[in-house]
Amino acid sequence: MKKILFHLDTDPIPNTFDTVVAYDGGADHVSCRGNVKPSTVGTMVDGAVFTRPPKLKKHTALFVTGSNMGEGEAVLASIRNHFFDDFRVSVMLDSNGSNTTAAAAVAYIARHMTLTDKRAVVLAGTGPVGQRAAVMLALEGAEVVLTSRRLDRAETACESMRRRFGVALMAAATGDHAALEQALAGANIVLATGAAGVQLLHEDQWRDLPELEILIDANATPPLGIRGIALADRATRRHGKLCYGAIGFGGFKLEVHRACVAKLFEANDLVLDAPEIFTLAKAMMAAK
Ligand SMILES: NC(=O)c1ccc[n+]([C@@H]2O[C@H](COP(=O)([O-])OP(=O)(O)OC[C@H]3O[C@@H](n4cnc5c(N)ncnc54)[C@H](OP(=O)(O)O)[C@@H]3O)[C@@H](O)[C@H]2O)c1
Repeated sequence: MKKILFHLDTDPIPNTFDTVVAYDGGADHVSCRGNVKPSTVGTMVDGAVFTRPPKLKKHTALFVTGSNMGEGEAVLASIRNHFFDDFRVSVMLDSNGSNTTAAAAVAYIARHMTLTDKRAVVLAGTGPVGQRAAVMLALEGAEVVLTSRRLDRAETACESMRRRFGVALMAAATGDHAALEQALAGANIVLATGAAGVQLLHEDQWRDLPELEILIDANATPPLGIRGIALADRATRRHGKLCYGAIGFGGFKLEVHRACVAKLFEANDLVLDAPEIFTLAKAMMAAK
């Protein structure tokens, strides 16, 4: 029985990165669809759930991606609404690599420290990766500040994550130097999740922060998000702080991504979103 993964992307052109990892994760065949919307996904769900007998349904799975987290969440919700009784297949949401990237980064942080009572700042946290990273940090017990250049965007992201996962996040604007300094005050953890090629932090804005213990930058495209960290840093000490660059934790992100794809084919009723993917990443990290 072939393992078929339907790669459903909310963007017009399905991301090739996700297709490659889908094969590397164990799918025998990957079928890619672009421009997938909550209103159009129903027929694809029907085709996936009505074709194979109960014991063989686990060999079909759905993988939702795209650059817009809200659109991905809406497609996931629509898919779940179409399921009934045992007419379901496993589904994973990973818009822009959000959950797998965030899970890898936060699992590395959690390897170094207990997060309860730590203050974590997710810089430019309004994108897919930042939103999910903020959720995972909060699930681990950290006090989390999610920033944006605009306060209303940060507030919208925090409210969206509260509704979806029940976590309380604090919104902060970092539109100017003073606001950024204020958001960073007392931070133990800084996770930069800004758009590719956007520098968010100069070295002199973090090197002397007394409480800061760890910095992680998700941006792999120069200029990097945090100046003073190298792309391949993995637990590298700089100015007394532990530093991770995007490539430094990116290998583990790919391991987690592949493991999630493999897991989809273990049962026909899994929903892999932030908490489930983070749990898997922590277990994989513990086994390292
Ligand atoms: N290392 C890995 O394995 C891996 C995997 C996947 C993704 N990534 C990287 O992770 C990062 C986050 O991905 P994402 O998809 O969540 O990012 P995104 O949605 O493209 O951008 C995140 C946020 O960056 C802010 N931003 C955009 N342009 C900016 C500018 N010119 N100046 C300051 N802020 C700006 C925006 O926030 P506001 O408008 O609210 O300020 C935006 O919501 C990216 O760099 C991506 O390449 C890494």
